[in-house]
Amino acid sequence: MTNLIYFSPRGGTKKYIQAFKSAKEEFLEWDLTYNEPGTIQLKQEELLIIAFPVYYGRVPLLFLQRLEALRGNNTPAIILAVYGNRDFDDALLEMKDFLIKRAFIPYGGAALVAKHSYGHIQTHRPSAEDIKEVEVFIKRALDPCKEAKFYDFPGNVPYKERGKSSFFPSTTDECILCKACVRSCPSSAIDEEIHTIKDKCISCMACLDVCPVDARVLSEEFHDFVKDFSEKIKEPRENVFFL
Ligand SMILES: Cc1cc2nc3c(=O)[nH]c(=O)nc-3n(C[C@H](O)[C@H](O)[C@H](O)COP(=O)(O)O)c2cc1C
Repeated sequence: MTNLIYFSPRGGTKKYIQAFKSAKEEFLEWDLTYNEPGTIQLKQEELLIIAFPVYYGRVPLLFLQRLEALRGNNTPAIILAVYGNRDFDDALLEMKDFLIKRAFIPYGGAALVAKHSYGHIQTHRPSAEDIKEVEVFIKRALDPCKEAKFYDFPGNVPYKERGKSSFFPSTTDECILCKACVRSCPSSAIDEEIHTIKDKCISCMACLDVCPVDARVLSEEFHDFVKDFSEKIKEPRENVFFL
């Protein structure tokens, strides 16, 4: 059985997962964006495909917490780190180390570009071309003759220091209390009065996507930061495959 486990607050990672779903007839899907799954125990003859967005060059901490009870039994694993055109830094290596401790054999993976969660960076990605590249990779990665050996992913130890969110959306008087934002929040960081709980907010900005009256807003400072940042990372990056 192929197990697709992923975290995707803004849907970019999920678009890549879709390509894997069309390549396999039988799979179990574990969307951990909103759920803590409890124990997931995979057997040796199963396959794990694990996908997540890169946050600050690392694996999002909330995703790692949700995976606490994941266990393999020399189970082969493919790692997909989806990044917003800046860099994936140590994210693949961090996930490889995490999976090895849980008895998986990460034998391949990819760093894939998707629209950045902030601003208007690579908004058309994943493009049809990106999905085609992934389909070619899937065929190679899922070849039954392929032997599962530990892959030497790029990255450094100690990993890049985990960044801290410094931009948190707030709510204007336009709010109609529909609570779409509360439901969209992967970290339950919006309370019933539609205040952002800063200690919980992961700054994914999913709440801005769903507000029907644009009442979730960010500071001038955020918009200035995004303008500069977008300019710095505007050159399109490529998908990188490891197998
Ligand atoms: C808090 C935060 C940190 C991020 N850090 C990085 C990063 O280090 N490198 C990068 O290229 N993209 C970074 N991104 C962008 C996401 O990796 C990218 O937009 C990804 O496609 C989001 O996945 P999703 O659409 O499945 O939520 C960051 C996004 C957020 C919200």
